[in-house]
Amino acid sequence: MEHYIDELDDEVPSLKEAIRYGLLLGGKRARPLLVYATGTMLSVREEQLDYVAAACECIHAYSLIHDDMPEMDNDKLRRGRETVHVKFGPALALLAGDTLQALAFELLSDPRSGLRPESVVRLSAALARFAGYRGMCGGQALDLLAENVKIPLESLRLLHAKKTGALIQAAVLMGAMASGREDEKLLKTLEEYAKQVGLAFQIWDDVLDVVGDTAVMGKTALSDVSLNKSTYPALLGLETSKRLAAEASDQAINALSSLSFDTELLRQFAVFCVTRDH
Ligand code: IPE
Ligand code: IPE
Ligand code: MG
Ligand code: MG
Ligand code: MG
Repeated sequence: MEHYIDELDDEVPSLKEAIRYGLLLGGKRARPLLVYATGTMLSVREEQLDYVAAACECIHAYSLIHDDMPEMDNDKLRRGRETVHVKFGPALALLAGDTLQALAFELLSDPRSGLRPESVVRLSAALARFAGYRGMCGGQALDLLAENVKIPLESLRLLHAKKTGALIQAAVLMGAMASGREDEKLLKTLEEYAKQVGLAFQIWDDVLDVVGDTAVMGKTALSDVSLNKSTYPALLGLETSKRLAAEASDQAINALSSLSFDTELLRQFAVFCVTRDH
């Protein structure tokens, strides 16, 4: 990702700086990890996965830049630093997000990836779908509509599946798609894993908002609480939320049992989701 940004010309230095800041400075790189875990499990070459992993991370970074803006969650701290809109102003933050979204598809369609053209079309369609109305953006809109109201658990689960689950699903499935395999059963199994792991990841994110440490997380604790967000702890309390996160993680691991590949990394990620402190 760093090389890619370095390659850009210097005609718009402030925007280049803002995307570098929003994309490169920190983060767990969970979605790239999932692309590599699934892809290497299916013997895809790492150089080909680089482009897929970077594309997923660009969409994620853009979603965070916009998520932190005053019109959404109004957060001032991300990855231990000022959020992009605080540092660069709201207009550049909007444009940095937009630019990273475009960059995702530029990366995916870069011929240097060595991916087959059919795979590129399939991967681009998947990323667009999981990022857009039916995925992350739709979920983010539901999240905003669910402030200051009580929604049923079923609606909260759907909100989480879209705003966070969709991009996690994209990462897992795109790692598999890069292999060019047309194995429906394999994709269905990975989809089930990704759905459960995505839910576990966001429930735990909600839990950390309540019990996490601002300095360790690099983002402000109790942000959801102060915005009266619909979260698992708000609806069900902390203990039930932790239990449901652990159950989703277990179900993700169970889904892997039918696969005859080395799923160890995917298993470890499912455990990490619900034990992490940041
Ligand atoms: C935070 O994502 C936003 C959610 C979708 C829960 P991460 O927890 O993956 O954030 P970084 O990339 O590690 O900073
Ligand atoms: C964000 O959920 C999901 C996306 C950015 C798509 P949150 O609003 O809970 O993420 P954090 O807690 O700010 O990282
Ligand atoms: Mg949010
Ligand atoms: Mg937020
Ligand atoms: Mg959160």
